[in-house]
Order: sequence, then structure tokens, then C-alpha cells
Amino acid sequence: MARRGFFVTGTDTGVGKTVVACGIVRALRSGGLDIGAMKPIETGVTEAGPLDAMALQQAAGGTDTLDDVCPLRFALPAAPNVAASHEGASVDLLRIEEAFERLAARHDAMLVEGAGGLLVPTAEGSTMADLALRLGLALLVVVRAGLGTINHTRLTLAEAGRRGCRVAGVVISHGSAGISEADALNLGCLRDELGEQLLAEIPPLEQGEEASRYFDALSLERVIDCV
Ligand SMILES: Nc1ncnc2c1ncn2[C@@H]1O[C@H](COP(=O)(O)OP(=O)(O)OP(=O)(O)O)[C@@H](O)[C@H]1O
Ligand SMILES: [Mg+2]
Repeated sequence: MARRGFFVTGTDTGVGKTVVACGIVRALRSGGLDIGAMKPIETGVTEAGPLDAMALQQAAGGTDTLDDVCPLRFALPAAPNVAASHEGASVDLLRIEEAFERLAARHDAMLVEGAGGLLVPTAEGSTMADLALRLGLALLVVVRAGLGTINHTRLTLAEAGRRGCRVAGVVISHGSAGISEADALNLGCLRDELGEQLLAEIPPLEQGEEASRYFDALSLERVIDCV
């Protein structure tokens, strides 16, 4: 069943999924849409807690329990199946679905941040793409601004299509370091190729700066309702 919202994936780990996801959630909520957020599996979790999930929980108003926002947490900073089996555990997809349904019932739309990229393994024989399909959410793909991004973006979009995932759009995130002149020209090629599929481009943010101002709530809502 198609659900209202986004499954945020990326061309890689560390590309800006959480920065973009929090920005989208904050922009939509200030535009009046009650969107909930979830990071169903977080790995590399220390005593400080699941940092991505905590950021998303706050962005979504801070009223959902962390156990629902992030039902599965593992210490090893590795792919979910690897991190889980390192602890003698497994990735319980049913627990994710149950938490998702509880949150979806409390909100008008949902944003879910995946771990790593689209084909990262979750449970045995299953990937983030399968999780997006299972939750019924359209993909929002976060991509880097630097060299290599045309190839990574094309691969992710092609694979999403091959697996029958709906794609809501792409967001380019620059990261904290600037890009070279060659990278900027390269990026122009990607922008042209993506056309309307490019929902936003986040420049290098200052320390502590939110990405929400780079999103237009009305356009995002239109995308949610059209995809
Ligand atoms: N546009 C940007 N400007 C400045 N810093 C950024 C930007 N986008 C991402 N970053 C920084 O890059 C790092 C990785 O970003 P982020 O945590 O959002 O990536 P991610 O894709 O969610 O990673 P993970 O796969 O671990 O979930 C963070 O330190 C973040 O603050
Ligand atoms: Mg993240």
C-alpha cells in the first residue's frame, strides 16, 4: 500500500541524509503538515544514543518515543545485518513495521531515513529498497556534490526503477567542504539531467545551521501527493 511520505536513502553513507531529512521534516511541519520521522535501524550507536534518530525525533516535535523512532540499534558501525549478527542478534523487520504503524497512525505523513544506501542489507536476503517497498514510501535520494556523483546517482535511480520503487526526487547536499571548479561543472551536468526531479540543493551549511530553509513546504507537499 502506498503511504504518504518519503524514505530517505542516499548514494552512500555520510552523504547528508540526516541533514536533509531533518530539514524536510522541519520545513513541512512549519508549513502545517504533521509529519513523523523514523530511523528504523541505526548502527554505530554509542552511549550517547542513536544520534540520527534523536535528531529526527526532535525535528518531528519530540513527542514520539525513541523506541518507536528507532526500534533497532546496534553498536558496530557496519551494515545492519553485520552489526546485528556481531551481537548475536538479527534484524527484526516486523518490529520496524509495528513501530512504523504506531507512528503513521499518529501523524499525517511519515519520513523514514534508511541506513547507508539503497542496497545495504537489512535482514537475511533483504535490502533498504525492500524496506522502502514494504513501508510503501517513495524514495528521496540524497546525493553528494563532489566527483563521482553522476555515476552514483544514475546507479541508484536505475536500481530503484528496476526494483519498482517510486522515486519522489533527488536532493544534492554539498557537505562541509567546498567543491572544486571541475566538480561544480560536473554538478551542472547532473542538475540538467535531473531537471524537475531535483527537489533542492543544500550548500555547505554553517555549524549548527538547519537545512530547512532550502526546502519549500508547498512544493514538498505537492511531491508527496503526486508521487
Ligand atoms: N550541506 C551540508 N553542509 C555542511 N555539512 C553537511 C552538509 N550535509 C551533510 N553535512 C555533514 O556531513 C556529515 C554527514 O551528514 P549526515 O549525517 O547527514 O549523513 P548521512 O547520510 O545521514 O550519514 P549516515 O549514513 O551515517 O546516516 C555530518 O557531519 C553533517 O553535518
Ligand atoms: Mg544519517
